[in-house]
Amino acid sequence: MNLKDCAACTAAMAMFQIVSHNWSLLPSLQLPLPKLLILQSLCVKASTPPSSWYTDPSFLQLELQHVFFRGWQTVGFTEHVENPCDFFSGRLGNVEYLVCRDAKGDLHAFHNACRHRAALLVSGKGSKSCFSCPYHGWTYGLNGSLLNANRMAGIQNFNKDDFGLVPINIATWGPFVLINLDKDIPFHQKSTAEKVEYEWLGDGSEIMSTNLNYLSVKHVRRREYVIDCNWKVYCDNFLDGGYHVPYAHKGFSSSLNMNTYTTEVYEKIIVQRCESASTNDNRLGSDAFYAFVYPNFMVSRYGPWMETNLVLPMTSSKCQVIFDYFLDETLMDDKVFIEKSLEESHAIQVEDVEISERVQRGLESPGYCSGRYVPSVEMAVHHFHCLLHQSINQNLY
Ligand code: FES
Ligand SMILES: [Fe+2]
Repeated sequence: MNLKDCAACTAAMAMFQIVSHNWSLLPSLQLPLPKLLILQSLCVKASTPPSSWYTDPSFLQLELQHVFFRGWQTVGFTEHVENPCDFFSGRLGNVEYLVCRDAKGDLHAFHNACRHRAALLVSGKGSKSCFSCPYHGWTYGLNGSLLNANRMAGIQNFNKDDFGLVPINIATWGPFVLINLDKDIPFHQKSTAEKVEYEWLGDGSEIMSTNLNYLSVKHVRRREYVIDCNWKVYCDNFLDGGYHVPYAHKGFSSSLNMNTYTTEVYEKIIVQRCESASTNDNRLGSDAFYAFVYPNFMVSRYGPWMETNLVLPMTSSKCQVIFDYFLDETLMDDKVFIEKSLEESHAIQVEDVEISERVQRGLESPGYCSGRYVPSVEMAVHHFHCLLHQSINQNLY
């Protein structure tokens, strides 16, 4: 029998909707503890979403439209556009974007597509005084204006001012650069820092500012992993309250005191904390702070390290995870410590990649449709799914 067609699995989807719907009607609570209890009480009854959420390309299109192309999304770091003429580029879904700082010091984001015949203007990161298209040489200023278009004699109804780069709303929070691709927000509607903070982090902004201590760290390394799993498999794994740690990370689990593992659920962020097992762990320090910012960004702070993971959907069964490592400035010259720490982090990541790919293969199998949440540890996974359900539902109807 194909389980995906069975009545229980159809009911599982209905149950997920009912439970999520109840959650969305709850009054907004300020303290994490009552929220946590309510979420636990809801997730005792809930089934996990049907596997089609993780395998169906049309569901990914819904997510792009209603989750990633709405609200603020993390795309990079202020450190990489610190000076005039600095830029970096990236891709979110099918959106190619670039972020740059102009000569006056203003930060901009644009669609990274030439207004002539659409060639990508730049790739990677660096410094440029203007953007010259590699195809036919149209040249743009760092404020997006079209400065020069070659061999245009005879063209009619063409005004250079109408062919500047298409702007994207941009903001920063601490060391992070955010963009907002929502077509319903007019470009020139500038948001205040407070508004951006609330829209991005909800009621979790104070927790983030208090715990990240980001002023003392500098970027040291980027690592990128392409994983054969839906982007949510990777996020679910991060959010399972340490449930998988003793099984999937047998070596690493002895570094943590798993009895101290806690989860705090806020509106848009989820915080997990755990103490180290040893007082002499130079990489982990005394405890770890793991924050998840809906929908796809993770910031971990442990010992002298700050680590970010950006999970980008590629297809319904493939994602890219970009790891950026920041280190306390006083240790930037300690190459041995840096390489050893990064190696340890990579080993954990290899285990997470392997388990995530195993989950994806199971999700694609006809023998699985939907599972259950373990209420004592997986309330954050449930909250993440509720937020997704809410984003997609509220924009659909
Ligand atoms: S596509 Fe850029 S100049 Fe032609
Ligand atoms: Fe893990």
